[in-house]
Amino acid sequence: MSTLKNGEIVIRCENLHRSLGRDAGRVHVLRGVSFEAERGRVHAIVGPSGCGKSTLLYQLGLLDRPDDGRIWIDGELISNSSDELRTAARGLHLGFVFQFHFLLLEFSALENVMMPMRKLGRLDEAAMAARARHLLGEVGLGEKTHRLGNELSGGEQQRVAVARALANEPSVILADEPTGNLDQRNSELVFGLLARLARENGQAVVLVTHNPDIAKRSDRVLEMRDGVFI
Ligand SMILES: Nc1ncnc2c1ncn2[C@@H]1O[C@H](COP(=O)(O)OP(=O)(O)OP(=O)(O)O)[C@@H](O)[C@H]1O
Ligand SMILES: [Mg+2]
Repeated sequence: MSTLKNGEIVIRCENLHRSLGRDAGRVHVLRGVSFEAERGRVHAIVGPSGCGKSTLLYQLGLLDRPDDGRIWIDGELISNSSDELRTAARGLHLGFVFQFHFLLLEFSALENVMMPMRKLGRLDEAAMAARARHLLGEVGLGEKTHRLGNELSGGEQQRVAVARALANEPSVILADEPTGNLDQRNSELVFGLLARLARENGQAVVLVTHNPDIAKRSDRVLEMRDGVFI
C-alpha cells in the first residue's frame, strides 16, 4: 500500500436501503444512504442510538445484503456478487471491529488475531504469530498474548478485536465503537493507532462513535438520523 494513494476512494455506496425485522415489526432502517471513504482518512459516523449506524457498517462490511442500492470496493461493484466473491473480498480488503467483539473466547488473544491470517493463507505459522504479537503490542496487550479470550476484560477483548481487524492489512477498516469500552488512555491508544494506519499505510478508517472527542479528531464526521446522513 502506498501513501501516494491517499485521498483515493476505496469504498463507496449509493442509495442503500435495508429493512429489518418481520411482518408488522419490519423497520425501514437504511433509507437511501450514500457514502464514500478515502484512503488515508478517518471517517466518523455519529448519531443517536438506533439510527442505523451498525446496520450501515454491516452493509459496508459485506456481512448483509442491501434491499436496494449498490456498493463498490476499489471501483468494483460487489453488492450483487455471489456469496463466494463477497467472502473473498471481505478477507482481502476489509477489517471489521464489531460493536460486540465476537472473539473466540476459548482461544488465546494470539490465536484470535491469527485467525483472519489463517483464512487468507498468505503467511506461514511463524510469520503469522510474529505479526499477531506485533499487533497485540500496538494495542497495549504485548504481555497478554497467551491469555484466553474469557480471561480478558471487556476493554482488553475490544483491543484484541481491533488487532484482529488489522491482521490482513485491510484497505478499509470498519470499526463499530472501537473505543466504546475503553478508558481514556486506551481510547487514545486505539484511535491513535487507527489514525496512524490511515496516514502511513493509506488505509481508510470508518468508525462509529458516540465519543465527541474521537469525532472531532477524525477527518470527516457524518451525522446519521433515521437511516440517512444529514
Ligand atoms: N434484526 C432486527 N430486526 C428488527 N429490527 C432491527 C434488527 N436489527 C436492528 N433493528 C433496528 O434497526 C434500527 C437500527 O439499528 P442499528 O443497530 O443499526 O442502530 P445503531 O445506530 O447502531 O444504534 P447504537 O448506537 O445503539 O448501536 C434500530 O431501530 C433497531 O431496533
Ligand atoms: Mg450500533
